[in-house]
Amino acid sequence: MSRVAIGLAGLGRMGRVHLGNLAGRCPSAILACVYDVDPVVAEQAAAEYDVPWTASFDELLDACDAVAVATSTASHAPLVEAAADAGRSVFCEKPVSADRASAVAAVEAVERAGVLLQVGFHRRYDPDWAAAARRIHDGELGEVTFFRTSLRDMTSPPASFLTGSGGFFTDVTVHDLDVARWLVGEVVEVHAHGAAANPEFARLGDIDTAVVVLRFDNGALGVIDNSRSAGYGYECSTEVMGTAATARIDAPHRHGYEWRTPGLASRDLVRDFEQRYPYAYAAELEAFARCVLTDTEPLAGGRDAIAASDLAEAATRSWRTGAPVRLSPRRTAAGIDYSSEVPA
Ligand SMILES: NC(=O)c1ccc[n+]([C@@H]2O[C@H](COP(=O)([O-])OP(=O)(O)OC[C@H]3O[C@@H](n4cnc5c(N)ncnc54)[C@H](O)[C@@H]3O)[C@@H](O)[C@H]2O)c1
Repeated sequence: MSRVAIGLAGLGRMGRVHLGNLAGRCPSAILACVYDVDPVVAEQAAAEYDVPWTASFDELLDACDAVAVATSTASHAPLVEAAADAGRSVFCEKPVSADRASAVAAVEAVERAGVLLQVGFHRRYDPDWAAAARRIHDGELGEVTFFRTSLRDMTSPPASFLTGSGGFFTDVTVHDLDVARWLVGEVVEVHAHGAAANPEFARLGDIDTAVVVLRFDNGALGVIDNSRSAGYGYECSTEVMGTAATARIDAPHRHGYEWRTPGLASRDLVRDFEQRYPYAYAAELEAFARCVLTDTEPLAGGRDAIAASDLAEAATRSWRTGAPVRLSPRRTAAGIDYSSEVPA
């Protein structure tokens, strides 16, 4: 096998990004078939990309070597389990589940079946983030002392998405919590503050703005700021300070030109995650296909997904109680385990 035939489940906002990438930007993958619970959506995508479509996940599994899951969050865990039981490796969008027991069951099904699971922590595959990570991990920064990251959407997703999202920390901050673990290390304290600038979020029992303060086991401090609706654009940027250097990954402009008038220069900002991460989303699926071809564990695996979700759950508890949550992650044979602090 020189290319992996990948079936794509879920053709909404994120699924459409994966669709374009699988159809032409992943040399180790072939888009085998598409599926959505809405057959009209699946049929339209199939016609647009000239690929087969199906109205059944079982048929999708029959048509592919491996599957990419970009359906709504609540369906991830059962689809991952079904794929694993059918012997298919899975790329799954984050989070694997908003419910810890379901996420663990899905990851254990994957491990039992001996297939691979990669989770959609796309920043790990972005060229800028990956270059910074390599140098940090090689020790060029010296001792890491401080981590700062911002993730801000320009506009909020629709209420229909929010109600099934798992809540702010599980849906949004989970990306930053994964990056914190990846770039700096394990977290021993989370103190989260949240607010609903838009009262609609309060009505849903959720928030749209948050600050999360982290303590790492190496003594470093961290701060995450998040917004669902920054208004000006989509921002995702990070700094990692060390005793020898500081790595900064800035939010890029949309285009390489600016428009100048007397006393004023203006430039387009990126508006959403698709514009910010064109390379990362293609690279993560290419990396997944290569992992399947070489039977190599993905960089962002199931245990990373559970760890980041556990930290998100700790942030949720901290926000609700107003108190910091102390953590003592343990290294086990299966991977890092934050479970003792986060009740199922
Ligand atoms: N990695 C990222 O940057 C990123 C960005 C956005 C969304 N996401 C994640 O991607 C997932 C999808 O988000 P979205 O914004 O595309 O949502 P969406 O609501 O726009 O799309 C979801 C699609 O899945 C389909 N669907 C729902 N349940 C299904 C099922 N059981 N079987 C088949 N199809 C089903 C829906 O019909 C819809 O077409 C979410 O889990 C979200 O957390 C990740």
